[in-house]
Amino acid sequence: MSVVELAPAPAPFVGRFDAPSSLYVDLPPTAPPSPSPRDGPMILPIVRTTSEPARRRPTVVVEDDAAGEPMVVHAGPGHELMVRTIAAVDQDECEAHGENAFFVCDLAEVYRQNERWERALGRPGGHGRRVEAFFAVKCNPDPLVLRMLAALGLGFDCASQAEISTVLALGVAPSRIIYANPCKAASFIRHAAASGVDMMTFDNADELAKCRKHHPRAKLVLRLLTDDSGSVCRLGAKFGAHPSMVRPLLVRARELGLDVVGVSFHVGSGCTNPELFADALERARRAFDIGAELGYRFDLLDVGGGFQGETFETMAGVIQLALERYFPVDGAGAGVRVIAEPGRFYVTEAFELATNIIARRGLAVDGIDDADVAAEDKPITMYYINDGVYGAFNCTMFDHQVVRPVVLTLDGGDVILPASSTSDENAALRELALEMSPCSIWGPTCDSIDCVVARTDMPTGRLEVGDWIRWPQMGAYTICAASQFNGFRRSLVHYTIHAPAAVEERIRALLAA
Ligand SMILES: Cc1ncc(COP(=O)(O)O)c(C=O)c1O
Repeated sequence: MSVVELAPAPAPFVGRFDAPSSLYVDLPPTAPPSPSPRDGPMILPIVRTTSEPARRRPTVVVEDDAAGEPMVVHAGPGHELMVRTIAAVDQDECEAHGENAFFVCDLAEVYRQNERWERALGRPGGHGRRVEAFFAVKCNPDPLVLRMLAALGLGFDCASQAEISTVLALGVAPSRIIYANPCKAASFIRHAAASGVDMMTFDNADELAKCRKHHPRAKLVLRLLTDDSGSVCRLGAKFGAHPSMVRPLLVRARELGLDVVGVSFHVGSGCTNPELFADALERARRAFDIGAELGYRFDLLDVGGGFQGETFETMAGVIQLALERYFPVDGAGAGVRVIAEPGRFYVTEAFELATNIIARRGLAVDGIDDADVAAEDKPITMYYINDGVYGAFNCTMFDHQVVRPVVLTLDGGDVILPASSTSDENAALRELALEMSPCSIWGPTCDSIDCVVARTDMPTGRLEVGDWIRWPQMGAYTICAASQFNGFRRSLVHYTIHAPAAVEERIRALLAA
């Protein structure tokens, strides 16, 4: 990981790169005056210096990561860290990979999502049920995110031997892990058994036979097929026992002398219809009743993942109501532990990606003014950036994400645009009243499938090679599935904590725990 150690920046700004870089960049000590409406957004000089800047708060080296590099956690807004990081890159002189794309992760954002979880689902009381979060490691196994969530006391949903080993290495007790993959390799089941990981899901008879042979003490959880029609990533095509299979599978488990402790489901990732949780919980109730008829006393209900930031509180409300109806604490739900496997909800917002424009082509920018060529050749400007669908943007293929480019610099990196204080990320562009024209954005590999955005509008007259584009909401199902196809490295993560001092201290304490 390459991290530039800098003092936290004081305020969002618009800046101009003045000189070749050295390692440190001093940012203006005070917030710039507000631009007058007549002048448009203000452009301030960034003064590069070789002297070490005064530090208001020290950056904190957490410890060595797997590659033996220090992991530095900065303070302040992610946008500022992003700007300071790109300001430290001299694109004319840097070594190979010096201008690579990179993520900025604001750990405070993950922390705040956990607070949201705790508020809506984390506390028992009243009619509310406690739903314990088991973070879905597959979504983003970032070492600092995992470390913080482990210190916060979350459980973990692991899909493989490697994920189990990663979580155990954090000092998490095996009882805080659910091996939530219904189709497991025999050797992985043996590894789970040897590691003391007992909770694991199944949805077919062969899996029961494997568990009998390799982990007879397993605490098995029957994964149910539920309606996933309201989700962006449907999982029902691959996993989940059909309602008519519930009884035969439980009968088989009984014959094999296996301990089935409960049921799980997953309404699909990126669920847009909260009501599907109610439907799934009704199915879970039926499965509990069948289990009881066969002599099982289920005490675990796993409501899976599917949570999204925008609809989270609504979903939590639907779940609480359905739990009250189908699993009342003072009735049929007495003694039942409820867990969930959220992934996306925890990390989506926390990660932003900065990509560098490494190449550009097009009739206008290449100066071709020929109607015949225009009719045949690519009609719009094509930008080539240094991460693509074989890297972080695999999310556009595997996770059906629609990614959103936000202009970070103009004029080949000279002009830095400020972070928007509203959700309107491109507000600064409009303030500058730049002419927008259609373009496409492509990844760096030699494959033509490597198209990140097929068509969008950008200020193509000012957005040049060397400029930077940032991509918000890139924390879920991005880094974890990135390849190094064509020899392009995965984008690395730079960390910050943007929170009031007390919260920042708490997060640093969690990371150091
Ligand atoms: C078994 C299981 N649990 C949890 C998750 C996490 O889902 P989400 O990120 O939608 O919360 C997934 C995602 O694929 C999954 O397969």
